[in-house]
Amino acid sequence: MPNTAARHPTMRWDAESSALYLIDQRVLPRIVRDIRCTSAAAVANAIKTMVVRGAPAIGCAAAFGIAVEARRVQSHHEKSRRTALTKAFQALASSRPTAVNLFWALERMQRAVDAHQPAGAADGAALASRLERLAIKIHAEDIRINRAMGRHGAALIAPGSQVLTHCNAGALATADFGTALGVIRAARSRIRNVWVDETRPFLQGARLTAWELMEDRIPVTLITDSMAAHFMQLGQIDAVVVGTDRVAANGDVANKIGTYGVAVAARAHGIPFYVACPLSTIDVNTAQGSAIPIEQRGAAEVTGHAGVTWAPKNVRVANPAFDVTPARLVTALITEKGVVMRPTKARLAALMDDAGR
Ligand code: MRU
Repeated sequence: MPNTAARHPTMRWDAESSALYLIDQRVLPRIVRDIRCTSAAAVANAIKTMVVRGAPAIGCAAAFGIAVEARRVQSHHEKSRRTALTKAFQALASSRPTAVNLFWALERMQRAVDAHQPAGAADGAALASRLERLAIKIHAEDIRINRAMGRHGAALIAPGSQVLTHCNAGALATADFGTALGVIRAARSRIRNVWVDETRPFLQGARLTAWELMEDRIPVTLITDSMAAHFMQLGQIDAVVVGTDRVAANGDVANKIGTYGVAVAARAHGIPFYVACPLSTIDVNTAQGSAIPIEQRGAAEVTGHAGVTWAPKNVRVANPAFDVTPARLVTALITEKGVVMRPTKARLAALMDDAGR
C-alpha cells in the first residue's frame, strides 16, 4: 500500500523550474496545498513558520534551499553569487535551532560548495547542478534510511501491540515513510492500535500523525497529552515509539515538548520507550542533553489556536518547543544501522565508529 507521502509528498523538487514545493503543514489536514519556494530566503521562512517541520524534513528542505539559491543566482557575477550563497547558508542555519539535521545537511552542502572547482563562464550553472544533485541525493538517502529503521524497529514490536507516539515523526517529518511512524508502518501487521498524543501546543499529533495513519488505514486512537499515563496505568499501551531532533553524545534525547513526561510515565509502568533516530540526528559534538539548544516559540501558540484566544490578555507564557529525555529512560535507539539498547556514550561512539562517522 502506498504510504501518505506517496500521495501527498512532504516536498517535491521541480527540476524544470528549479522550484521546491512543500506541503503546507500549518493547515493540514483541513487544507492540502503546496507552497512553492524559489529562493533560500523562501525556504528559510518556510522552516521558521513550520510549513515544513520535523528534523529530517528540515534537513532535506535546507539542502534544496541551497540548490534553489544557487540556481537563482547562477548567471550573476562570481562575487555576487558567493555573497548570495553565504547569505543563504546563514538564513537557513538561523531558521530553527534544535534539529541537528538542519546543520548536518547544510555542512554537506557547504563541503560541496568548497570542493567546487570554478569552470569558467558556465561556472554558476555547474555549481547549481552539483548542489541540485546533492540535495536530491540527501532526500533519496533519507527515504532509504527510514525504511531501514523501520525494518530494525519492527522487530521490537510484539504481535497484537498497542503503541503510543508523540508529535509527528512520520512521512511528513521526513522525505518519506518516517522515523517513528516508519517503525509503526513496518510493524503494521502486528499493531492493534496506535495511541496518538495530540501534542500541544502545535498539535502535530492531532493534525498530522492522526491524518497520516488514517490515510494508511492503520488503527489510531487520538488522545490529549494528559491522557497517556492513564492509558499506561490501564495496561493499554505496550510500547512507546517517538522520533528525535537531536541526540547528544551521551544518549540524551531532545524531542517535542512532552516527550520527557511520556518517558517518565513509561518507565513508571515498565513500558519500553524507543527512539527512532537516524545517524544524522546524533550530535557527537554535544556532550549531553543540557547543552542542546531548545527553541522557544511565541506565546500565541499557548494562549489559543487558529486565531481564537482563550487565555487572559497579557498572561505570562512559556513555550519551549522541545524537552530532553535523559538516556537512562531510553530503552533503545533505533537507527538505520541497527538497534542500540540502553544508549550510553560508549555505545553511541562505537555505533558512529562502525558507521565511519
Ligand atoms: O517542532 P517540530 O514539529 O519540527 O518537531 C518535530 C519533532 O519533535 C519530531 O518528533 C522530530 O523532529 C523527529 S521527526 C522524524
